[in-house]
Amino acid sequence: LHVVVLAGGISHERDVSLRSGRRVADALTAAGHRVTLRDPDAGLLPFLASERPDVVFPALHGSSGEDGSLLDLLAALGVPTIGSSGPAARRAWSKPVASSLLAEAGVAVPESIVLSHEAFRELGASSVLRVVREKLDGELVVKPASGGSAQGVTIVETTDELPRAMVEAFTYADVAVVERRIVGTEIAVTVIDNGDGPTTLPAVEIEPTTGIYGFQARYNAGETTFYAPSRLGEAELAAVTDAAIIAHRTLGLRDLSRIDFIVDASGTPWFLEANVLPGLTETSLVPLAIEASGSDAASIYGQLVRTAHA
Ligand code: DAL
Ligand code: MG
Repeated sequence: LHVVVLAGGISHERDVSLRSGRRVADALTAAGHRVTLRDPDAGLLPFLASERPDVVFPALHGSSGEDGSLLDLLAALGVPTIGSSGPAARRAWSKPVASSLLAEAGVAVPESIVLSHEAFRELGASSVLRVVREKLDGELVVKPASGGSAQGVTIVETTDELPRAMVEAFTYADVAVVERRIVGTEIAVTVIDNGDGPTTLPAVEIEPTTGIYGFQARYNAGETTFYAPSRLGEAELAAVTDAAIIAHRTLGLRDLSRIDFIVDASGTPWFLEANVLPGLTETSLVPLAIEASGSDAASIYGQLVRTAHA
Protein backbone atom coordinates (compact mmCIF):
# COMPACT_ATOMS: atom_id res chain seq x y z
CA LEU A 1 0.00 0.00 0.00
CA HIS A 2 1.06 3.60 -0.49
CA VAL A 3 1.28 5.17 2.97
CA VAL A 4 1.94 8.84 3.65
CA VAL A 5 3.54 9.33 7.05
CA LEU A 6 3.04 12.86 8.34
CA ALA A 7 5.78 14.17 10.61
CA GLY A 8 6.90 17.59 11.80
CA GLY A 9 4.14 20.18 11.90
CA ILE A 10 4.26 23.47 13.76
CA SER A 11 3.68 22.33 17.33
CA HIS A 12 6.09 22.55 20.26
CA GLU A 13 6.73 18.85 19.67
CA ARG A 14 7.88 19.22 16.05
CA ASP A 15 11.29 17.66 16.66
CA VAL A 16 9.81 14.73 18.52
CA SER A 17 7.37 14.19 15.66
CA LEU A 18 10.18 14.18 13.06
CA ARG A 19 11.86 11.42 15.05
CA SER A 20 8.63 9.44 15.42
CA GLY A 21 7.87 9.81 11.71
CA ARG A 22 11.24 8.47 10.62
CA ARG A 23 10.82 5.39 12.81
CA VAL A 24 7.29 4.76 11.56
CA ALA A 25 8.41 5.19 7.93
CA ASP A 26 11.24 2.68 8.44
CA ALA A 27 8.90 0.16 10.08
CA LEU A 28 6.28 0.45 7.34
CA THR A 29 8.94 0.15 4.64
CA ALA A 30 10.15 -3.01 6.36
CA ALA A 31 6.54 -4.24 6.32
CA GLY A 32 6.60 -3.93 2.53
CA HIS A 33 4.63 -0.69 2.07
CA ARG A 34 5.56 2.19 -0.23
CA VAL A 35 6.12 5.08 2.16
CA THR A 36 6.25 8.83 1.60
CA LEU A 37 7.38 10.94 4.56
CA ARG A 38 5.85 14.39 4.46
CA ASP A 39 5.68 17.53 6.59
CA PRO A 40 2.08 18.79 6.90
CA ASP A 41 2.81 22.18 5.29
CA ALA A 42 0.53 24.42 3.24
CA GLY A 43 0.84 22.13 0.22
CA LEU A 44 -0.44 19.07 2.09
CA LEU A 45 -4.06 19.06 0.99
CA PRO A 46 -3.41 19.50 -2.77
CA PHE A 47 -0.69 16.83 -2.46
CA LEU A 48 -3.05 14.33 -0.82
CA ALA A 49 -5.89 15.19 -3.20
CA SER A 50 -3.75 14.42 -6.24
CA GLU A 51 -1.71 11.57 -4.77
CA ARG A 52 -4.68 9.74 -3.16
CA PRO A 53 -2.52 7.53 -0.89
CA ASP A 54 -4.13 4.36 0.46
CA VAL A 55 -3.53 5.40 4.08
CA VAL A 56 -2.22 8.40 6.01
CA PHE A 57 -0.28 7.76 9.23
CA PRO A 58 -0.14 11.04 11.14
CA ALA A 59 2.92 10.77 13.41
CA LEU A 60 2.18 14.28 14.65
CA HIS A 61 2.35 15.27 18.29
CA GLY A 62 0.95 18.29 20.03
CA SER A 63 -1.31 20.86 18.40
CA SER A 64 -2.13 20.29 14.70
CA GLY A 65 -1.84 16.54 15.24
CA GLU A 66 -3.30 15.67 18.61
CA ASP A 67 -5.76 18.59 18.83
CA GLY A 68 -7.85 17.06 16.07
CA SER A 69 -7.76 19.97 13.61
CA LEU A 70 -5.68 18.26 10.93
CA LEU A 71 -7.57 15.01 11.52
CA ASP A 72 -10.80 16.85 10.62
CA LEU A 73 -9.24 17.98 7.34
CA LEU A 74 -8.06 14.45 6.52
CA ALA A 75 -11.56 13.16 7.24
CA ALA A 76 -12.99 15.81 4.91
CA LEU A 77 -10.62 14.61 2.18
CA GLY A 78 -11.82 11.07 2.73
CA VAL A 79 -8.34 9.55 3.06
CA PRO A 80 -8.16 6.49 5.36
CA THR A 81 -6.18 7.66 8.39
CA ILE A 82 -4.58 5.78 11.28
CA GLY A 83 -5.68 6.81 14.72
CA SER A 84 -8.52 8.58 16.43
CA SER A 85 -11.07 10.89 14.82
CA GLY A 86 -10.81 14.67 15.19
CA PRO A 87 -13.58 14.91 17.83
CA ALA A 88 -12.07 12.04 19.88
CA ALA A 89 -8.61 13.61 19.67
CA ARG A 90 -10.03 16.89 20.98
CA ARG A 91 -11.54 15.14 24.00
CA ALA A 92 -8.17 13.60 24.87
CA TRP A 93 -6.19 16.74 24.01
CA SER A 94 -7.94 18.79 26.68
CA LYS A 95 -6.68 17.36 29.96
CA PRO A 96 -9.60 18.91 31.94
CA VAL A 97 -12.19 17.45 29.54
CA ALA A 98 -10.53 14.02 29.46
CA SER A 99 -10.18 13.99 33.26
CA SER A 100 -13.84 14.89 33.85
CA LEU A 101 -15.04 12.22 31.44
CA LEU A 102 -12.85 9.61 33.11
CA ALA A 103 -13.88 10.61 36.62
CA GLU A 104 -17.49 10.03 35.52
CA ALA A 105 -16.43 6.62 34.22
CA GLY A 106 -15.04 5.70 37.64
CA VAL A 107 -11.32 6.18 37.00
CA ALA A 108 -9.33 7.95 39.75
CA VAL A 109 -8.31 11.44 38.67
CA PRO A 110 -6.18 13.82 40.82
CA GLU A 111 -8.14 16.72 42.35
CA SER A 112 -7.42 19.84 40.36
CA ILE A 113 -8.18 23.46 39.67
CA VAL A 114 -8.39 24.78 36.12
CA LEU A 115 -7.56 28.41 35.53
CA SER A 116 -7.39 30.56 32.40
CA HIS A 117 -4.55 33.00 31.85
CA GLU A 118 -7.08 35.82 31.97
CA ALA A 119 -8.52 34.71 35.31
CA PHE A 120 -4.99 34.36 36.69
CA ARG A 121 -4.19 37.96 35.69
CA GLU A 122 -7.48 39.29 37.07
CA LEU A 123 -7.36 37.45 40.39
CA GLY A 124 -3.67 38.05 40.98
CA ALA A 125 -1.16 35.60 42.38
CA SER A 126 -2.17 35.90 46.06
CA SER A 127 -5.87 35.21 45.45
CA VAL A 128 -4.94 32.27 43.23
CA LEU A 129 -2.74 30.90 46.00
CA ARG A 130 -5.62 31.14 48.45
CA VAL A 131 -8.05 29.39 46.10
CA VAL A 132 -5.53 26.63 45.43
CA ARG A 133 -4.78 26.13 49.13
CA GLU A 134 -8.52 25.89 49.96
CA LYS A 135 -8.88 22.95 47.63
CA LEU A 136 -5.51 21.23 47.33
CA ASP A 137 -2.79 20.49 49.83
CA GLY A 138 0.66 19.01 49.66
CA GLU A 139 2.80 19.02 46.55
CA LEU A 140 1.21 20.18 43.33
CA VAL A 141 1.75 19.67 39.63
CA VAL A 142 1.12 22.63 37.35
CA LYS A 143 0.69 21.94 33.65
CA PRO A 144 -0.76 23.43 30.49
CA ALA A 145 -4.31 22.15 29.92
CA SER A 146 -3.13 20.73 26.61
CA GLY A 147 0.27 19.73 25.35
CA GLY A 148 2.75 16.91 25.49
CA SER A 149 6.25 15.74 26.30
CA ALA A 150 5.99 17.37 29.76
CA GLN A 151 6.64 20.82 28.28
CA GLY A 152 5.50 23.56 30.66
CA VAL A 153 5.00 21.09 33.52
CA THR A 154 6.36 22.01 36.97
CA ILE A 155 6.26 20.16 40.26
CA VAL A 156 5.53 22.68 42.99
CA GLU A 157 6.77 21.76 46.45
CA THR A 158 6.09 25.02 48.25
CA THR A 159 3.33 27.48 47.49
CA ASP A 160 5.64 30.37 46.67
CA GLU A 161 6.75 28.47 43.55
CA LEU A 162 3.19 28.39 42.24
CA PRO A 163 2.96 31.74 40.37
CA ARG A 164 6.15 31.07 38.38
CA ALA A 165 4.95 27.56 37.55
CA MET A 166 1.66 28.95 36.28
CA VAL A 167 3.38 31.51 34.09
CA GLU A 168 5.47 28.67 32.66
CA ALA A 169 2.32 26.62 31.92
CA PHE A 170 0.71 29.65 30.23
CA THR A 171 3.54 29.81 27.72
CA TYR A 172 2.17 26.55 26.28
CA ALA A 173 -1.61 26.99 26.67
CA ASP A 174 -4.19 29.63 27.63
CA VAL A 175 -5.49 27.39 30.36
CA ALA A 176 -3.48 25.78 33.16
CA VAL A 177 -4.27 22.87 35.44
CA VAL A 178 -3.07 22.80 39.05
CA GLU A 179 -3.44 19.32 40.46
CA ARG A 180 -2.50 17.36 43.55
CA ARG A 181 0.74 15.49 42.99
CA ILE A 182 0.24 11.76 43.20
CA VAL A 183 3.29 9.96 44.46
CA GLY A 184 3.85 6.50 43.08
CA THR A 185 5.00 4.60 40.03
CA GLU A 186 4.58 6.18 36.60
CA ILE A 187 3.05 3.68 34.18
CA ALA A 188 2.20 4.00 30.49
CA VAL A 189 -0.22 1.57 28.88
CA THR A 190 -0.37 1.23 25.10
CA VAL A 191 -3.77 0.33 23.72
CA ILE A 192 -4.08 -1.26 20.28
CA ASP A 193 -7.49 -1.40 18.69
CA ASN A 194 -7.70 -2.98 15.26
CA GLY A 195 -11.46 -2.86 15.11
CA ASP A 196 -12.18 -5.97 17.19
CA GLY A 197 -11.97 -4.23 20.55
CA PRO A 198 -9.09 -2.62 22.43
CA THR A 199 -6.26 -4.74 23.81
CA THR A 200 -3.20 -3.63 25.75
CA LEU A 201 0.52 -4.17 25.26
CA PRO A 202 2.70 -4.80 28.34
CA ALA A 203 2.60 -1.80 30.69
CA VAL A 204 5.85 0.19 30.79
CA GLU A 205 7.19 1.50 34.10
CA ILE A 206 9.14 4.73 34.06
CA GLU A 207 11.89 5.48 36.55
CA PRO A 208 13.63 8.75 35.67
CA THR A 209 17.20 9.03 36.97
CA THR A 210 16.48 12.59 38.13
CA GLY A 211 13.17 11.57 39.75
CA ILE A 212 11.16 13.58 37.22
CA TYR A 213 10.14 12.40 33.75
CA GLY A 214 10.57 15.77 32.03
CA PHE A 215 11.52 16.63 28.44
CA GLN A 216 15.24 15.82 28.91
CA ALA A 217 14.46 12.51 30.60
CA ARG A 218 12.15 11.62 27.71
CA TYR A 219 14.37 12.17 24.74
CA ASN A 220 17.93 11.54 25.92
CA ALA A 221 18.90 7.92 26.04
CA GLY A 222 20.06 6.79 29.47
CA GLU A 223 18.21 9.50 31.44
CA THR A 224 15.43 7.13 32.40
CA THR A 225 15.21 3.49 33.37
CA PHE A 226 12.26 1.71 31.80
CA TYR A 227 10.83 -1.58 32.91
CA ALA A 228 8.91 -3.27 30.13
CA PRO A 229 7.00 -5.19 31.32
CA SER A 230 6.54 -3.18 34.51
CA ARG A 231 7.32 -4.57 37.97
CA LEU A 232 3.71 -4.09 39.15
CA GLY A 233 2.03 -6.90 41.04
CA GLU A 234 -0.80 -8.82 39.42
CA ALA A 235 -3.65 -6.86 41.01
CA GLU A 236 -2.08 -3.47 40.30
CA LEU A 237 -1.34 -4.45 36.72
CA ALA A 238 -4.92 -5.60 36.21
CA ALA A 239 -6.24 -2.32 37.66
CA VAL A 240 -4.07 -0.08 35.48
CA THR A 241 -4.77 -2.16 32.37
CA ASP A 242 -8.54 -1.98 33.00
CA ALA A 243 -8.32 1.76 33.56
CA ALA A 244 -6.46 2.18 30.25
CA ILE A 245 -9.16 0.29 28.36
CA ILE A 246 -11.87 2.35 30.09
CA ALA A 247 -10.02 5.55 29.12
CA HIS A 248 -9.61 4.47 25.48
CA ARG A 249 -13.29 3.54 25.25
CA THR A 250 -14.66 6.51 27.20
CA LEU A 251 -12.77 9.01 25.05
CA GLY A 252 -13.83 7.14 21.90
CA LEU A 253 -10.25 6.55 20.72
CA ARG A 254 -9.28 4.33 17.81
CA ASP A 255 -6.36 2.22 16.55
CA LEU A 256 -3.58 3.27 18.91
CA SER A 257 -3.34 5.26 22.12
CA ARG A 258 -1.13 5.49 25.16
CA ILE A 259 -2.73 6.16 28.52
CA ASP A 260 -0.51 7.46 31.31
CA PHE A 261 -1.03 6.85 35.01
CA ILE A 262 0.61 7.04 38.39
CA VAL A 263 -0.05 3.96 40.50
CA ASP A 264 0.01 4.93 44.17
CA ALA A 265 1.11 2.83 47.16
CA SER A 266 -2.41 1.43 47.60
CA GLY A 267 -2.39 0.18 43.99
CA THR A 268 -4.84 2.77 42.65
CA PRO A 269 -4.06 3.94 39.10
CA TRP A 270 -4.51 7.73 38.82
CA PHE A 271 -5.17 8.95 35.30
CA LEU A 272 -2.73 11.57 34.02
CA GLU A 273 -3.49 11.82 30.31
CA ALA A 274 -4.37 10.04 27.10
CA ASN A 275 -2.17 10.41 24.02
CA VAL A 276 -3.87 9.85 20.68
CA LEU A 277 -0.57 10.07 18.79
CA PRO A 278 1.94 8.86 21.34
CA GLY A 279 5.66 9.30 20.82
CA LEU A 280 7.13 6.62 18.55
CA THR A 281 10.79 7.71 18.74
CA GLU A 282 13.71 5.46 19.66
CA THR A 283 13.37 6.48 23.33
CA SER A 284 9.55 6.49 23.45
CA LEU A 285 7.26 4.20 25.43
CA VAL A 286 5.11 2.59 22.72
CA PRO A 287 8.13 1.04 20.91
CA LEU A 288 9.27 -0.39 24.26
CA ALA A 289 5.83 -1.88 24.85
CA ILE A 290 5.83 -3.36 21.33
CA GLU A 291 9.22 -4.95 21.95
CA ALA A 292 8.11 -6.31 25.33
CA SER A 293 5.06 -7.87 23.67
CA GLY A 294 7.35 -10.00 21.50
CA SER A 295 6.09 -8.30 18.35
CA ASP A 296 7.78 -5.59 16.31
CA ALA A 297 6.91 -2.16 14.93
CA ALA A 298 6.66 -3.46 11.33
CA SER A 299 3.92 -5.95 12.32
CA ILE A 300 1.97 -3.62 14.60
CA TYR A 301 2.02 -0.52 12.38
CA GLY A 302 1.58 -2.74 9.31
CA GLN A 303 -1.58 -4.21 10.84
CA LEU A 304 -2.92 -0.72 11.67
CA VAL A 305 -2.34 0.32 8.05
CA ARG A 306 -4.12 -2.75 6.67
CA THR A 307 -7.09 -2.22 9.01
CA ALA A 308 -7.34 1.49 8.13
CA HIS A 309 -7.36 0.60 4.44
CA ALA A 310 -9.90 -2.21 4.73
N1 DAL B 1 3.58 13.72 23.59
C1 DAL B 1 4.63 12.76 23.42
C2 DAL B 1 4.99 12.60 22.01
C3 DAL B 1 4.26 11.47 24.05
O1 DAL B 1 3.26 11.44 24.71
O2 DAL B 1 4.95 10.49 23.87
MG1 MG C 1 1.60 13.22 26.34
